[in-house]
Amino acid sequence: MYKIETETGVYKLKPFSYNVFEKNMTKYFEWMNCPKVTKFNAHGLFAKTAEDIAAWIKAMDKKEVLCWMLFNPLGEWIGVVSLQSFNWIYRTAEIAMWIGDSTEWGKGLATGMIYNACQHAFERMNLNRIWSGTAETNRGMQKALEKNGFRKEGVFRQGMFLSGRYADIFCYSLLVRDWNERKAAAK
Ligand SMILES: CC(C)(COP(=O)(O)OP(=O)(O)OC[C@H]1O[C@@H](n2cnc3c(N)ncnc32)[C@H](O)[C@@H]1OP(=O)(O)O)[C@@H](O)C(=O)NCCC(=O)NCCS
Repeated sequence: MYKIETETGVYKLKPFSYNVFEKNMTKYFEWMNCPKVTKFNAHGLFAKTAEDIAAWIKAMDKKEVLCWMLFNPLGEWIGVVSLQSFNWIYRTAEIAMWIGDSTEWGKGLATGMIYNACQHAFERMNLNRIWSGTAETNRGMQKALEKNGFRKEGVFRQGMFLSGRYADIFCYSLLVRDWNERKAAAK
């Protein structure tokens, strides 16, 4: 379990639990169909089904996805962060996340989730490169990545269709080398 300290208390990141998910399924479907939460990503293009969830669980069982659930100080599930798209030869993975409860945005939670997931990826899983692609308009995600030392390395021109127009995808990455340099500089 990882902890993220904020001005409004301590949030916890715990490994994905099917029991928690099952108890909060209604909330999950609301988040995934909420225009505000899905404004900058592909969630919500197709309504999520029970089969989608089963496929997600299966991917976790097969170690294709590593997912943590984010809990607020009241113990309520509010979001997830995942490492996925693993390449076990090149030792790379994608990082992805969402916080479904928008009242929790802007407290540093995405920044903390990225930090903890990267620490796990580099220091426990021996990965070499973590990458993320996000909409040109998703300034919150871009800043959370940049605050963790991610570098913008390119643009997929018109890689997405969002809110009635094509949008560029900004691509970011962090190498274990960058991670170690930042740690040494922080000492
Ligand atoms: C994007 C998202 C993960 C950001 O989470 P968050 O917990 O609010 O991010 P943080 O609080 O760590 O913010 C990081 C920085 O971005 C800023 N920020 C957050 N949201 C912002 C926004 N909408 N516009 C501009 N800046 C924003 C914060 O103020 C902070 O900067 P600061 O430290 O200089 O004040 C969250 O808004 C979310 O879950 N959105 C819906 C799903 C999504 O877009 N997922 C990412 C898909 S790639």
